Amino acid sequence: MYFMNALLGYVMPYLAVIFNLVSSPTMDKRGGVDYYDPTGRGGSMLINAGDGYGEPMNVIISGLSSPAVLTLDGAINFARAIGFSKECFGLHLGGYMPANLGDGNGWVNQTIELRQDYGNAGGGTCLESLVGGNHFRIFVQNGTAADSGALFLAVSREEPVSKHHDIVPNGYNIGRDQLVSAAIGQTRYHGVKYHTIAQNITGLLEAGTDGINHGIAQDGIITLLTVTID
Ligand SMILES: *[C@@H]1O[C@H](CO)[C@@H](O)[C@H](O)[C@H]1NC(C)=O
Ligand SMILES: *[C@@H]1O[C@H](CO)[C@@H](O)[C@H](O)[C@H]1NC(C)=O
Ligand SMILES: *[C@@H]1O[C@H](CO)[C@@H](O)[C@H](O)[C@H]1NC(C)=O
Repeated sequence: MYFMNALLGYVMPYLAVIFNLVSSPTMDKRGGVDYYDPTGRGGSMLINAGDGYGEPMNVIISGLSSPAVLTLDGAINFARAIGFSKECFGLHLGGYMPANLGDGNGWVNQTIELRQDYGNAGGGTCLESLVGGNHFRIFVQNGTAADSGALFLAVSREEPVSKHHDIVPNGYNIGRDQLVSAAIGQTRYHGVKYHTIAQNITGLLEAGTDGINHGIAQDGIITLLTVTID
């Protein structure tokens, strides 16, 4: 017994040093958390699509990602690395939809909406608007009440503009899974190299069609991405 205590007494300070070395890189990034759950804080995991319906925020880019990813320009660069770009010539075809992330900022419109880029520089996202494809809106959890710095993404796969940008059947799950598949592992754009890991979260968002825009069921899974710049 004495021996064990003595051994622990000897080893603990070293363990503490090692623990600090390992944990300190995340401590100086904002609140040092992946995200704060908006629902317990007067917010919602559904963005407001009007008429009492919502669309799920089904991807979160963790607040523990490299800080440069969590800025507007950084998020756009990352989005380009995974096959998205800014909307077709700045035209806003999707409309504003606000979200409340429970961070004290209340309901706030999306910061930006990005669409799948079909690879033809400049015209690529116009093609998405015409033929349909994946798109998402970004919301930033940066209010003083829950300042994780995390980006909340409402991702869905759309019909072409001729069908008024409705969501395709199963379009929330499909949109999320497609974005996540494109993101995981190594990606790069404009000289920035990213390494992304994914983890599914359940329990934040109820599965089903209740209150969901277009009555399209979603599986309630939110994928948390942690994006590190190499
Ligand atoms: C979102 O933007 C629209 C268009 O500019 C505006 O009418 C609306 O008030 C904004 N909503 C919020 C919650 O800021
Ligand atoms: C929160 O993020 C939004 C969108 O990037 C930005 O406009 C706003 O200034 C930020 N607020 C704070 C307190 O940093
Ligand atoms: C998350 O859930 C989706 C849908 O079930 C699945 O396709 C994907 O492989 C899961 N990802 C992880 C990292 O578990």
